[in-house]
Parts: sequence; structure tokens; C-alpha cells
Amino acid sequence: MTISDVIDAWNEADPAAIHPTRGISEDAYESSGQNQAALLSTVLPEGSRVVDFGCGDGRVAVPLRALGYDVIGADGSQAMLNRLADRDPSMATVVSDGTDLASVIGKKADAVISLAVLIHHTYEAGERIIEGLRAAVRVNGLLILDWPVADEPQEGGGWIGVTTWSREQQDALCARVGLKRLEVDGMPWPVFRAVKASS
Ligand SMILES: C[S@@+](CC[C@H](N)C(=O)[O-])C[C@H]1O[C@@H](n2cnc3c(N)ncnc32)[C@H](O)[C@@H]1O
Repeated sequence: MTISDVIDAWNEADPAAIHPTRGISEDAYESSGQNQAALLSTVLPEGSRVVDFGCGDGRVAVPLRALGYDVIGADGSQAMLNRLADRDPSMATVVSDGTDLASVIGKKADAVISLAVLIHHTYEAGERIIEGLRAAVRVNGLLILDWPVADEPQEGGGWIGVTTWSREQQDALCARVGLKRLEVDGMPWPVFRAVKASS
């Protein structure tokens, strides 16, 4: 699947597909976002400019903004951004597939977070998206990416599949685009600092 195939599928998707807690209740869905926003706030500098890439209808972006961050919701799906606007009409939003993120946000961000987005893409697409996200963050800024590593990595296939990576694949891409992995206790997703690329 290409990047636009995945976005087209999400544009048509039932909002219940965004997170398993939505199958339980809307309260459970909101609590999951609040808990993850609180976790992210232990790492993100107070009040910083944060892009939630692949924000969906704002499960995490809305509570993160409520914590005082200057949040920009970015998604490739206009349908998702419309639902986000219903929940938080004054949040800044941009349509982006990741590869163009730097140009659509203008001023670079202090951080990009991206949860449950990279997992839905092939390696080739994932590389292009990571490159785009890195370009949207200022040097020394942070990227917190739901970007899972597995001993037996595989491409998920399909818009709701789960792609896993080898640590070697990730390290090579990080060196190429300028990402330094940080050791952060208690964070379920890898955290990277934007640095100069090694080559
Ligand atoms: C599983 S939902 C996750 C939403 C949100 N991050 C969360 O954790 O609640 C995936 C979202 O990523 C968006 N998405 C997937 N691939 C994308 C891409 N290449 N560019 C922009 N948005 C993308 C979809 O439109 C959808 O809103």
C-alpha cells in the first residue's frame, strides 16, 4: 500500500478503529488519551510547540493542548481533522502525509509525537515519513514515535496492519536523517533527539 492508499482508507474508516478503548466506551477512549498526554508531558518541555502527526480526532492532541502545549494536529485525512475540529474548534491543524510536514507547518516544531501511524505503513513509506517528521523538528527538538522493534520484523500489510522494524533498520535511518535515541524510563515509545545527520 502507498502512503495515499493508507490515508484514503483512514479517511473512510469507522472512528472506532482509531483505538481499541473506543470499543469499550467513549469515557475509556478519552481516559486513554488523557493518560498518554500526561505521560508525554513528562518528556515534552512545558508549553512547547508540538505537532501530533496522525492525530486522528485528537485522542491525545486535545488533552495535550489542555496541559498547556501549543499543539498542531496534523493528519492526512480531512475527515479525521473535521472530527477533531468538532472536539476542539480552535486547535491549529494541517493536512499532511508526513513527507511535506516541514513545509506545511512553516516554523519548525519543538517536538513531533506520532502514535499508531508508522505501524500502518511499509518500510519504504515509513522511511519517507520519518525523514519528513525529522525535517519538521528544530535541532535539539524531540520526536516521540510509536515505531516498534521486533526480533522478527515484518511489514504489516493493509491500512490497519502493524509493521515492525529491526533495530538495525532503525539505527541506519536515524543516522541518515539525524535522530539520536534517548534512554527514557517508563516511556512506551522510543524518544529521539533531532541532531545533525552523520553523513
Ligand atoms: C490509528 S489512528 C491513530 C490516531 C491518533 N494518533 C491516536 O493515537 O489516537 C491513525 C491516524 O493516522 C492517520 N495517518 C495514517 N497515515 C498517515 C500519513 N502518512 N500521514 C498523515 N496521517 C496519517 C490516519 O488518518 C489516522 O487518523
